[in-house]
Amino acid sequence: MQSDSLSPSGLLATEQVRIELPERSYDILIGTGLLARAETYAGLPAASTALIVSNTAVAPLYAAQLQAALQTRYARVLQVILPDGEAHKDWPTLQLIFDALLENSCDRKTVLFALGGGVVGDMTGFAAASYMRGVPFVQIPTTLLAQVDSSVGGKTAINHPLGKNMIGAFYQPQRVICDLDLLKTLPARELSAGLAEIIKYGPIADLDFLDWIEAHVDELRAGDTAALAHAVKRSCEIKAWVVGQDEREAGLRAVLNFGHTFGHAIESGMGYGAWLHGEGVASGMVMAADLSQRLGLIDAAFAERLRRLIARAGLPTAGPVLDATDNAGRYLALMRVDKKAEAGEIKFVVIDRPGSARVQGVPDVLVRQVIDACCQTV
Ligand code: NAD
Ligand code: GLY
Repeated sequence: MQSDSLSPSGLLATEQVRIELPERSYDILIGTGLLARAETYAGLPAASTALIVSNTAVAPLYAAQLQAALQTRYARVLQVILPDGEAHKDWPTLQLIFDALLENSCDRKTVLFALGGGVVGDMTGFAAASYMRGVPFVQIPTTLLAQVDSSVGGKTAINHPLGKNMIGAFYQPQRVICDLDLLKTLPARELSAGLAEIIKYGPIADLDFLDWIEAHVDELRAGDTAALAHAVKRSCEIKAWVVGQDEREAGLRAVLNFGHTFGHAIESGMGYGAWLHGEGVASGMVMAADLSQRLGLIDAAFAERLRRLIARAGLPTAGPVLDATDNAGRYLALMRVDKKAEAGEIKFVVIDRPGSARVQGVPDVLVRQVIDACCQTV
């Protein structure tokens, strides 16, 4: 645990998790006081220009500190401030990043810094992957969800009205900087949304971690720095292990989408932003556990254990009704627009035994039973 590693200055010792990839490996730094420290940025690619990409909620809190730190390293530090929210994870908002790059004659060495949650991170990464066919970028995740999942592993994307994250690229950052201090301004609902992606790692990969989350969920919800440090580090280690084996999701990486097939349908079906990504994933995990139980892979006790933890994390345990006349039909239609679908067949991540997961097709009739059992009008 991190609680023993407080320095005399009151800062946590910085931890490092490495993402080992064949073409280019990189580090995730986890600690406190990282954002404003010039050393945090040592060794990043040399360039004359850095562009900070942030949004209207995060920039007023943190962009000035980042600007000052980067000015010790880059001659020109520019900013582009995007509108806030999942509803803006789209082409017109992405275009604002390209506008800033081109209007300022940014060259192909320009380094982009994503300062924000998963929305800013996914869009900045996609912009970096495409501008001049690829410029370097750095992730500075400011939400718990982004620190434990979205900033790590190189998935970048925007939404399409017909499907979540359907347009994007695999493109790895140069570094991920998880400053736990930034989580202090995060609203409680967003902190809970991040807990969904932390909980996810337990049933698919690490039962000891599931035990630990159960024992520390109250501290996590209270924003305890030592508990958050451990949760971020262990989540990143598990994600690094998976991404290191299957960077482009040829197989194994899909297990990180536990709960996401249902969750993405909820996000797009409700209209992007109505339900937070973590909330969709939370109720999606309840549905995926119910499905695993119906398939005879886990027992009712394990499914109930997950549901109770999700509730204790302040997250929804039932999906919303998306269509009063044919709710299951609506879910199925939305879920067919999923990156795991093949030739129209929806694939689900199921727990094949507690602590391990796999991807498989499931007959519609069974999926309908799950949706009927796990949704309620909100
Ligand atoms: P978000 O980026 O919308 O951030 C949530 C809200 O918190 C926003 O209003 C944001 O402005 C605000 N905020 C951010 N940091 C703050 C801070 N420190 N203090 C106060 N407010 C702050 O949402 P998110 O939950 O971070 O990310 C969700 C997105 O991540 C979704 O689009 C999802 O698809 C994506 N995602 C991607 C991956 C991946 O592998 N690339 C994995 C999981 C999720
Ligand atoms: N969040 C799922 C993945 O990165 O693969």
